[in-house]
Amino acid sequence: MAPFSPDHTRDPLRFPMERPSASVRKGLPQGLKTRGVRPPPFHPHTLLPHSTMKNIVILLSGRGSNFEAILRTARAEDWEKAGLKIAAVLSNRPEAKGLETARAEGLDAYAVDHKAYPTREAFEEELVRLIEPYDPAVVVLAGFMRILTPTFVSRFEGRILNIHPALLPLFPGLDTHRRCIEAGCRVHGSTVHFVSAVLDGGAIIGQSVVPVMTTDTPETLAARLLPYEHKVYPKCVRAVAEGRVKLVDGRAVMDDATARELAVFYRD
Ligand code: GAR
Repeated sequence: MAPFSPDHTRDPLRFPMERPSASVRKGLPQGLKTRGVRPPPFHPHTLLPHSTMKNIVILLSGRGSNFEAILRTARAEDWEKAGLKIAAVLSNRPEAKGLETARAEGLDAYAVDHKAYPTREAFEEELVRLIEPYDPAVVVLAGFMRILTPTFVSRFEGRILNIHPALLPLFPGLDTHRRCIEAGCRVHGSTVHFVSAVLDGGAIIGQSVVPVMTTDTPETLAARLLPYEHKVYPKCVRAVAEGRVKLVDGRAVMDDATARELAVFYRD
């Protein structure tokens, strides 16, 4: 993927050397007296106050291609101008390629090795400790392969999303491509959904659909689907972050323009 400027995403409060001058932070002309006025923290790129930026936090376990697709789209569409910021990436696998990518792009990146914690709860407490300071508008599971407890899920209810490589409610769980071929399905797809206490069972936000060819193996089908995961997930993340999709009484509520945008179909 194209290189990103590392400075672009840095928080001036965490990197004081990069902090703009007080007059710049207050939107005042350079050189005006600023003493005694409490400066609000401004985002360096957009000059929006930090409090108005909505943070997106990403959890992943592996190669992180969905994370990369979200980051690439965020850059191409200038999400920061719209007040959305990809703030941090966490992984339960210290060796995850996605974590390496996050570091290379200058994002805050944390490894929280689940094997280092005696219980699932202790592991999740550490995740929460790291995530909460970002006060995320959206928590994105992008190939995060740990089951989360209802306590964790309820903490971020209505703002935690997952992508699953099947057209839910068909084929929850693992091995979805093989199961789809074996069932004789003529279409396959991916589903972005709100995470609930039921595995792969939360309200559906968006889906992408691809054909199943007669010669498909699980590998060829997965390869056809992945670019369509990459199309639908950024759209869903943005729609939820902007408040165009909300979880209401266990359903994803949106208008028809958004519903149309979040249904992505294969094109030859
Ligand atoms: C993706 O295909 C995603 O749908 C799947 O893991 C892959 C992660 O790839 N997620 C699940 O199976 C969750 N149940 P990535 O690390 O390249 O984004």
